[in-house]
Amino acid sequence: MVNETQKTYWNEIAGPKWLGLGGAMEARLAPVNDALIEAAALQPGEHVLDVGCGAGFTSLEAAHKVGPHGHVLGVDISHSMLEAARELTTGENAGQLEFALADAQTEYFTPPVNVFLSRFGVMFFDNPVAAFANLRRSAAPGARLAFAAWAPLADNIHWAKPLALVQALLGPGEKGMPRAAGPLAFDDPDYVLAILRDAGWSHGAVRVQGLHLRGVSLDEEAQIACTMGPSGALLDGKHASLAQREMAYDAIRTALPGYAQITPDGVRLAATIHLITARAM
Ligand SMILES: C[S@@+](CC[C@H](N)C(=O)[O-])C[C@H]1O[C@@H](n2cnc3c(N)ncnc32)[C@H](O)[C@@H]1O
Repeated sequence: MVNETQKTYWNEIAGPKWLGLGGAMEARLAPVNDALIEAAALQPGEHVLDVGCGAGFTSLEAAHKVGPHGHVLGVDISHSMLEAARELTTGENAGQLEFALADAQTEYFTPPVNVFLSRFGVMFFDNPVAAFANLRRSAAPGARLAFAAWAPLADNIHWAKPLALVQALLGPGEKGMPRAAGPLAFDDPDYVLAILRDAGWSHGAVRVQGLHLRGVSLDEEAQIACTMGPSGALLDGKHASLAQREMAYDAIRTALPGYAQITPDGVRLAATIHLITARAM
């Protein structure tokens, strides 16, 4: 059995929490799609696999890019995330955009894939080399891979600041295993490049990309920080009471204007991601 912990986590905890934020995660992460889809250089007619597609918004954008002669399959291990993703399939894109329950570490995908795409869906494998080698098996000749992963915490104040505030309230969390499956597992470019190489991918590259998350209100951003990411995980790990959660929310909501720009379209937060690309030769 592989990825059992993550299957339980994304089905029972993180998936429902993510969806409970009512689209705020998708709004906030939309700028990542722009950078990722540009890095993938999708062409009309290509077959795309969106790895860890979640609620499917990257898959939908990819489907627009590859057009009616292309195809996008979004795969995920979370039933609830897939249920939300399937709401994006319409009469217009039916047959061109599909979603399926599949573990990307073990599943064989056919027909052969031209482009493997992922927005933050590839940092959760038990065995990343096995997972990337498995994806490689489904690659069409010359296939491309383009994945977004978070750069280090220190370069992502939108996670670092709330974490520091929750630590100040509740104390530090338990020290996890280095590079354990999780949002920051791919924060070291050398580690990622070694995985790609060991898994049989060529021309591996990691581009450090600064961007701005945007699109949510101050209240929504504080809610996100109390729910997802390292600060949300620390609140869960400490079994924070309702009162402690309210204190964390107030502290983050009060601090936010100090590290976010407030714009008419919502808060704008500096962030840094790794754009990971490679080829199957
Ligand atoms: C941080 S979320 C990102 C979701 C989506 N890509 C987005 O950006 O909105 C990570 C997703 O990866 C999925 N996932 C984790 N491990 C996976 C695996 N082994 N195979 C397929 N999906 C996986 C999770 O269920 C979750 O939906």
